[in-house]
Amino acid sequence: MTDDATQQTASPAAPELALIVPTFNERGNLRALVAQIEAALAGRRWELIFVDDSSPDGTASLARQLGREDPRIRCIHRIGRRGLAGACIEGFLATSAPVIAVMDADLQHDATLLGRMLETLDAKGVDLVVASRYSGSRSATEGFSPFRGLASRFSTVMARIATGVTVSDPMSGFFMMRRQAFEPLAPHLASEGFKILLDILATARGRLKVEEVTYTFSARSDGASKFDVQNILDFLGLIVSKVSGGLVPVRFLSFAVIGAAGIVVHLAALMTMKRGGLDFGEAQAGATLVAMTSNFFLNNATTYRDRRLKGFAALKGLVAFYVICGIGAVSNIAVANLLYENAWRWIVAGFIGAVIGAVWNFTLSSQLLWRK
Ligand code: GDD
Ligand code: MN
Repeated sequence: MTDDATQQTASPAAPELALIVPTFNERGNLRALVAQIEAALAGRRWELIFVDDSSPDGTASLARQLGREDPRIRCIHRIGRRGLAGACIEGFLATSAPVIAVMDADLQHDATLLGRMLETLDAKGVDLVVASRYSGSRSATEGFSPFRGLASRFSTVMARIATGVTVSDPMSGFFMMRRQAFEPLAPHLASEGFKILLDILATARGRLKVEEVTYTFSARSDGASKFDVQNILDFLGLIVSKVSGGLVPVRFLSFAVIGAAGIVVHLAALMTMKRGGLDFGEAQAGATLVAMTSNFFLNNATTYRDRRLKGFAALKGLVAFYVICGIGAVSNIAVANLLYENAWRWIVAGFIGAVIGAVWNFTLSSQLLWRK
């Protein structure tokens, strides 16, 4: 039975709207946010779910305190996990309200828009309402630094070209949708990265009816943004993954970029060791070890930061990584040699060998080392 069919049996006290607010170190913003939501949604039946990834500043305990003061508020406290998109998905799946919305905790999203978004959803009979930052004038992005503004415009255009999605702000972190429209998409969404809306739009492949409302993105109220270079890699990884129809995993791009950077590390180490008096064979072996070690720690800190290995587990992981990459190198060389002997051009043979090695290393290490 669909949710709509059971609507008439809902308790009159059941919330009509669930607000999902992912948090990481947002303690200083929660009270003001709750006050804004209360004012914006007066007369509506809502619930507010914080999804906190064990913020060191104690955001989760404040969220629970707020829940004792107001039973419409609760907190999903996740341990050993990170990731904005995954936090949103988990929040969406934890409510039975027919309408779900997501917004930042840092007061950058204008809560007074919530009522209008809810009305738009009902009046226009759409599945999704996006609060967009650019449909209007340039000033719509005044909460961004110049670099973020430019990066945001660039990624918006990229996203539109790559996924065919025609929303003016597919990277918005502020939107509202029907849970019924969300549920069938949920199993296909990536939990990595920041781009939950883009992922929803791309996964739905144009089947969602979308409306936009515009607002001014304000400067962050308290604390710091968690947006960084890794989020850009996650974003590009998501686009590559969607364009390839899911063939290329989201994390592969980040893994491959680190692999490419490993070549530079390798050559630098080789040069240093040769200058230090080692002969070529010894220096090449040493440099290989150095490059594998740096690749391991870089991947551990970025590509798999949400599954980061620590302490003894990291040491065990490093040894396993040597073994996996060792086998990857042997298969790379074997395949490349075979192709080369069969009259393939050296550059093609070398490239295919390298791709096979990278895919092997990625697949094995993500299944065995950094598994969920
Ligand atoms: N649970 C959880 N886990 N929450 C997180 C995590 C995480 O790993 N990382 C960030 N958050 C929370 C923050 O606490 C905040 O409430 C919200 O997610 C957005 O994070 P910000 O760090 O404030 O992001 P931003 O303001 O720089 O980025 C904005 O623009 C992006 C597009 O450019 C947000 O609106 C994003 O949602 C949006 O994708
Ligand atoms: Mn923010």
